[in-house]
Amino acid sequence: MHSLWRLRGYLRPHVWSLALMMFAALGGVALMIAIPLVTKALIDGPIRDHDSSALLPLGLLALALGVLEAFLIWLRRWVQSGAVLGVETAMRHDLYERLQLLPMSFHSRWQSGQLLSRVTTDLSAIRRFSGFGMLFLIINIVQVVVTVVVLLEMFWPLGLVVAAAAVPIVLLSMRFEKRYVLVSRRVQDEQGDLATLSEEGAVGIRVIKSFGRSDHMAGRYDAAAESLRETSLEKVRLSARFWTFLEVIPNCAVVVVLLLGAIGVGRGSLTPGELVAFITLLLSLVWPVSSLGVILAMAQEAMTAAARILEIFDTEPAIRGGDRVIERPRGHVRFEHVDFAFPDAPDEPVLRDLNLELAPGETVAVVGATGSGKTTLTALVPRLWDVTGGRITIDGVDVRDLRLGHLRSLVATAFEEPTLFSMSARENLALGRPDATDEEIAEALEIAQAQFVHELPFGLDTRIGEQGMSLSGGQRQRLALARAVLARPTVLVLDDTLSALDVHTEKLVEEALNRVLVDVTGLVVAHRASTVMLADRVALLQDGTITRVGTHRELLATEPAYKELLAAEADSGQDDLDALSQAVRA
Ligand SMILES: Nc1ncnc2c1ncn2[C@@H]1O[C@H](COP(=O)(O)OP(=O)(O)O)[C@@H](O)[C@H]1O
Ligand SMILES: [Mg+2]
Repeated sequence: MHSLWRLRGYLRPHVWSLALMMFAALGGVALMIAIPLVTKALIDGPIRDHDSSALLPLGLLALALGVLEAFLIWLRRWVQSGAVLGVETAMRHDLYERLQLLPMSFHSRWQSGQLLSRVTTDLSAIRRFSGFGMLFLIINIVQVVVTVVVLLEMFWPLGLVVAAAAVPIVLLSMRFEKRYVLVSRRVQDEQGDLATLSEEGAVGIRVIKSFGRSDHMAGRYDAAAESLRETSLEKVRLSARFWTFLEVIPNCAVVVVLLLGAIGVGRGSLTPGELVAFITLLLSLVWPVSSLGVILAMAQEAMTAAARILEIFDTEPAIRGGDRVIERPRGHVRFEHVDFAFPDAPDEPVLRDLNLELAPGETVAVVGATGSGKTTLTALVPRLWDVTGGRITIDGVDVRDLRLGHLRSLVATAFEEPTLFSMSARENLALGRPDATDEEIAEALEIAQAQFVHELPFGLDTRIGEQGMSLSGGQRQRLALARAVLARPTVLVLDDTLSALDVHTEKLVEEALNRVLVDVTGLVVAHRASTVMLADRVALLQDGTITRVGTHRELLATEPAYKELLAAEADSGQDDLDALSQAVRA
């Protein structure tokens, strides 16, 4: 309960709606109990006495009460939907903001799909309980207690029968709900699996066809579909059994009440009107009693969900900015005795005692084997990760002392596997500088040799990314490069950004980049000799540390390992293959 209580802040803006809902619901309960009592008065009065003059007013009263009850139900639903959706939207907003704040270590621990589905399911569990369950928990308890008291008052032996019948129903429905939630989750999971399989089947169609594995993949899909069918059937069976029980128990109670009631009427301890009212009230209890169990289970589910959501809210953003700002940034970057290990492998440092200095305006290429830590190195500058030892400074200021937003406007990165969002090309490009003009965008596109954007069906307004136009790897990289250049950073980081470009385009990009890199400090991860030429100096990354720094010529002449690294790349012929495939595509 504690975890749900901590989310109460979300209900506060809706306090009046909640009060109105409560009022409407309690009014509804009062009417639900009052109507059978009017019926009783009708039967035991005018009907028994054949007094038709009194029939009309009482009948009209019953009708009026019925209409009022319907109105109150409508009022409650109407207020409820507004408040509930408001609460859910507010939670979604906060969660998204929180997820953006959380460090990379959090995100690399969670699979994004899982995080998404978990958050969605959890939010709806909380919404269901806070908007619906909580209210009915109170209302139903009130209704059951009051009705049972009225019944006991009317004829206590029968009242006891009813109270006794309620207990197994509550327990049964609680058990049912728990199992139902489990099976529903499984159905949901299996639907997710199936969706993943069909998506992979579509996206990976080239791989599947070229390996001749269509049958195999179809078999996997069939198996998943079959298991989904099984689970869905189980779900149907479960609820069929439950609803049958729910019909049977109250009907048994009605039979017992009728029998005992008839005896009671015969003996004169119960009037016929009372018996009718009794049975009406008894039947009105079926829903609140059975839903009580469902709601209790729902409450448990909501509490677990709240605990999990709070886990996200409680995770401290490990990376917090300082408050310093560099007024006139020059872009003097220093790595000083930098150590780094990923949080999940603290004993296996990726980088150790790494020293590197980039003078303002200088471009340094980092060369190293695959997996040597080049990407990690570049991610430390904008603090996607924090160093575990030593420090990184920009113009003499430790990056950890800089305001985070400021730091990230100083440093722009173009990644090897760039993410494009499902927005227009313009929005994708202006991510780092929302106020960029069309001229500036055109200039950045030219530097990145990404003029192809102008030829897209709607030019800069073409939707690209996940749900838009699909672009080739090289095109994506060039857009990412344009995006980074457009941000006008002081420090430009290119993490293997040009790897998917053919030699010809790469040359053009490099010529244009050279102009940009004059004013900007550049940290360029490179594989090919041609990219290395962009740099003033080259740093060789081996065994997690910089072993040599020098010009391309120097290293080539004196460092066999360096020569090997670049040569291996050239020998693989990958460049020529790239060029070929680009040429074919063009
Ligand atoms: N998020 C991560 N968590 C744990 N280890 C990682 C993570 N990212 C990369 N690594 C490991 O760190 C090492 C360096 O990776 P990376 O910097 O990507 O190399 P490079 O870019 O030079 O190919 C690799 O051994 C890799 O497995
Ligand atoms: Mg890398």
